[in-house]
Amino acid sequence: MALFSCHHPQAGVCVQLLAGSGISITKCLPNAEGSPTPGPSPGKMGKYRIRVATGDSLLAGSSNVVQLWLVGEHGEKDLAKILRPIRTGQVQLEVEVSLCLERLLLVKLRKHKSLVGFDWFCKWIAVQGPGTQGEAFFPCYRWVQGNEIICLPEGTARTVRDDPQNQFKKHREQELEERRKVYRWGFWKEGLILPIAGNSQWDLPRNERFLEDKDLDFSLSLAKVLKDLALKGTLDLTNSVRRLEDFSKVFPRGKTPLAERVCNSWKDDALFGYQFLNGANPMLLRRSTSLPSQLVLPPEMGDLKTQLEKELQTGSLFEADFSLLDGVKPNVIIFKQQNVAAPLVMLKLQPDGRLLPMVIQLQPPQNGCPPPVLFLPSDPPMAWLLAKTWVRSSDFQLHQLQSHLLRGHLIAEVISVATMRSLPSLHPIYKLLIPHFRYTMEINVLARSNLVSEWGISDLVVSTGSGGHVDILQRATAGLTYRSFCPPDDLADRGLLDVKSSLYGQDALRLWEAISRYVEKMVSLFYKSDGAVKDDPELQAWCREITETGLQGAQDRGFPISLESRAQLCHFITTCIFTCTGQHASTHHGQLDWYSWIPNGPCTMRKPPPISKDVTEKDIVDALPGLHEARTQKTFIKFLGRRQPVMVALGQHKENYFSDPGPQAVLKQFQEELAALDKEIEVRNAGLDLPYEYLRPSMVENSVTI
Ligand SMILES: [Fe+2]
Repeated sequence: MALFSCHHPQAGVCVQLLAGSGISITKCLPNAEGSPTPGPSPGKMGKYRIRVATGDSLLAGSSNVVQLWLVGEHGEKDLAKILRPIRTGQVQLEVEVSLCLERLLLVKLRKHKSLVGFDWFCKWIAVQGPGTQGEAFFPCYRWVQGNEIICLPEGTARTVRDDPQNQFKKHREQELEERRKVYRWGFWKEGLILPIAGNSQWDLPRNERFLEDKDLDFSLSLAKVLKDLALKGTLDLTNSVRRLEDFSKVFPRGKTPLAERVCNSWKDDALFGYQFLNGANPMLLRRSTSLPSQLVLPPEMGDLKTQLEKELQTGSLFEADFSLLDGVKPNVIIFKQQNVAAPLVMLKLQPDGRLLPMVIQLQPPQNGCPPPVLFLPSDPPMAWLLAKTWVRSSDFQLHQLQSHLLRGHLIAEVISVATMRSLPSLHPIYKLLIPHFRYTMEINVLARSNLVSEWGISDLVVSTGSGGHVDILQRATAGLTYRSFCPPDDLADRGLLDVKSSLYGQDALRLWEAISRYVEKMVSLFYKSDGAVKDDPELQAWCREITETGLQGAQDRGFPISLESRAQLCHFITTCIFTCTGQHASTHHGQLDWYSWIPNGPCTMRKPPPISKDVTEKDIVDALPGLHEARTQKTFIKFLGRRQPVMVALGQHKENYFSDPGPQAVLKQFQEELAALDKEIEVRNAGLDLPYEYLRPSMVENSVTI
């Protein structure tokens, strides 16, 4: 591209505008202020080369003109309307400024609409000034809308302490004031943690909306599955399931190898037990420390009691307790009463690593009622299978609501909203965390308005829909502990640390440790002492905003309301990143594998839990979802559980919020460590009968986006 120069005698600024198309435009613009801005070296001409990067998507450019200002330590210069960022990619401008700005602090920009306003996605601006200083980098990565002035601070991360001359004080205060107007806490249901305000995706801040590639993929694939559902769903009205094999009518054609395995082996006790360790919901299982008080063992089951006590003594007795579901009001689907149970499963860990069920109690004991029936592996096969199917349906409920929606999606949203409200874009922890919030608010708004809303999918086909789901979320919220979000603590508390066949546990620990090392290196760049952490008012306000406001007073469950040391800060940030990445991945990815075969994860149960062992195949079929519910489940599991074509893997974000080289080097080390871990898991999996893929770093998304 050619460069032009211009020296107009009346011009405050001489501008060369070089479009990315290769077409060069030269303009001479009057000084917008009318007179030279006072500065220490008035009249000294300086040449500034400005590079501007527009986003990569088709709609990122804007035909509107953009006014730029350079703000330096010694003054501010209005460069007037020198930019028209029509195309994606970079453009370069060169300007002569008749004063010495010295070190650049900010670039300000304002988009002027002509007849129509077109939003512009600005990635960054880089400015090379006169003299020996290098190119200053101003990260943006957001939409420029309306005609408000946007200030981009130079990308070196700074806490308040790092700005002793208060050069950025006003900017960070104003930025937070503006953000708090845009990112407002909303309210969804009583007793739950807080969401972002807004009832639909249209209410969200523009920067939280899907970009067009994600939007297009989401909308088109949803339209396709809904069309298929409408077409095939009508046939279901005249069709029915008579045998268990008939569920193959709604078994997806493009199934995963593991889903195929589930279809063939779902009746096996070993696969049933395996799911508590490494299935869609690895969050429920815990090692027993005593025989559960709600387990009622009648005198005639003395042998079972002896076996359970023996396993307990050797530390190989485990339990999966679904008592959170006790008393939850079941849904009514198309005028038919559905059913919910609250099972308790006792399992033993074999020396070969297999986890095998020993006994299932489908309901807790109730005063004035006969003791609940206990189902055993030695029972008639159909009775035992029906009991296990009830457990699978109960697991579907707790998995989707407690482990996936609440502990993955909704918590990530709290962290995200609190960060936007509390940390200015200059703050190192903002820069560290922001890539882990991409698309979380929009996917959660979509979930609240379509999946768990009134008349949403949950109400239409799930046994805990129409209110029971809110009850479960409220109960689960009351039990959210800080320790349960930190795998080293959670796995220790659940007695799973030394269980080699807990592949989830092994991988969660390794991923946690990799994230923890990354965070420690980042934090040590910006906080040289515990005092620096304690004295960071923005950081302290951020922590309080998460625990007290977003989580609605979770300090009594161990969440911090202040950060007293670097170690405490690292632990908190690692928890935030792991929650937005590994925690969600471990409970999201399994859906397609484990729930495509409906009997292994039924969304509803149409008959009450059995009270006798006289069970036929027809009894199981009658209890499982009807074809309509089954097809809807399959459709949405396929839609939500499919590998996302538009995804950023953990640590692979391309946005560069830090202009300093230190954090960039730390991110690179993190990426190398993740690549090595990915390879290790791949090699490990190659030797396994059932590979565990959900926490492979290349499979884990960088944020909650689906
Ligand atoms: Fe998800």
